[in-house]
Parts: sequence; C-alpha cells; structure tokens
Amino acid sequence: MRSECRSPLAIAIPLPCRIESSFAPPCRGRLKKVTAIYPGSFDPPTNGHLDLIERGSKIFDELVVALLRNPEKDPLFSLGERRRMLEALTSEFANVRVDTFDGLTVDYAAKIKASAVLRGIRALSDYEYELQMALMNRKLQPQLETVFMMPAEQYSYVSSRLVREVAKLGGSIAGLVPQMVEERLREKLEPAVKLENARKSKPGKRG
Ligand code: PNS
Repeated sequence: MRSECRSPLAIAIPLPCRIESSFAPPCRGRLKKVTAIYPGSFDPPTNGHLDLIERGSKIFDELVVALLRNPEKDPLFSLGERRRMLEALTSEFANVRVDTFDGLTVDYAAKIKASAVLRGIRALSDYEYELQMALMNRKLQPQLETVFMMPAEQYSYVSSRLVREVAKLGGSIAGLVPQMVEERLREKLEPAVKLENARKSKPGKRG
C-alpha cells in the first residue's frame, strides 16, 4: 500500500511512503534538518559517551548533548563541571553542542525542535530500561523517535557509575574516560583516596 505524505514535517515534494502498518503512522517523508538530543547525567562523561556522540554526529544534522539538571541527585561533578568537560570534549564536532535541561526530556526536545532522542545500548541488560524509557517518551510525545546506537565493543562495560566507584577506590580508569576526565577525577578524589589509604594503614584500626 502506498500513501501520500501529509505530515507537516515533510518537505513540499510528496514522497511515496513505504511504511505499511495497521495503525497507519504519519509518513514523515524527508526531513529538512534532523536535530537529535542525547540526554543523560554524564557524571562523568566516559569514552563510551564520546564514542556515541561521534557516531550520532555523523547521522544527525545537529546533536545536542543534553545534561539533566537533577536537584535530587547528588552528583560527583557539579553541573557546571560536567558541562565544561563535555563542551571541551565535543569542541571538535561542528554540529554538536551542549545544553542543560530539567523536567521531561520530551518537553526539552519539543522546546528545541529536536525530532529524535539518541541513547546508547551497551548490552542486553541496558535494553529493558531503555525500552521502557523510549516507550514512555513515545507515549508522551509520539512524534519523537528514539534512536539506539551501540558504542564500540571496548566500551560495552563502561559506565559512569563504575568509573566513579573504581576511581573512588583508587583503581585505574585509564582508557575508560578521556584524559581530561581522568585528571579531574584524580583532582577530586585524591584527598579522599589518601585519607582512605591512611585510615587502612593505621595499625590497630579496623573497618
Ligand atoms: O545518563 P542517565 O542517567 O541514564 O540518563 C537518564 C535520563 C536523563 C535520560 C532520564 O532520566 C530522563 O530522561 N530524565 C528526564 C525526566 C524524564 O523525562 N523522565 C521520563 C523518562 S521516560
């Protein structure tokens, strides 16, 4: 079955729609310019995030790395620190910019006229949570598409949470985060690691 595109997002020349479906989705035709958002906490940005940003920058006209302002969370890096790191790390990509948002991701996407949400899937374990989020976002805003991309295999186990944990306990995170992030982590955590080591090495001290 072929249908004409009637979506307001389609350009003037109607294109044949090849999507066949019982719920007859609106044919979007060719978009003029696709802006995608890549939302997240980025506490801290990892090489996996950067890998995804690079991949996203190649398929979207504009990619906005959208840093969530979440007052409930107690992040290791402040919003400003994360923003500055992300800006420096993405400066080489002409079509990538960094912004912050609060509230619903779908509302932020609508505000900046983004038509896609980029999210990374590292392993099957990510899939369930990501699927839930994607479907909830679709329920809230059916026009917004979620696009999943896979980071390079060597980053498939890398998460901000694990990076924070390993760094806090004095382990090496070389190769898992950009060098700048490694340095910022060291600056932030060195006093705490030294304190912990001193506490452990004190004779007679336990726990
Ligand atoms: O890096 P994270 O912590 O996995 O990112 C999660 C994020 C920011 C994408 C998600 O928590 C989010 O979208 N928060 C904004 C509030 C919202 O829209 N919630 C409903 C999502 S279905």
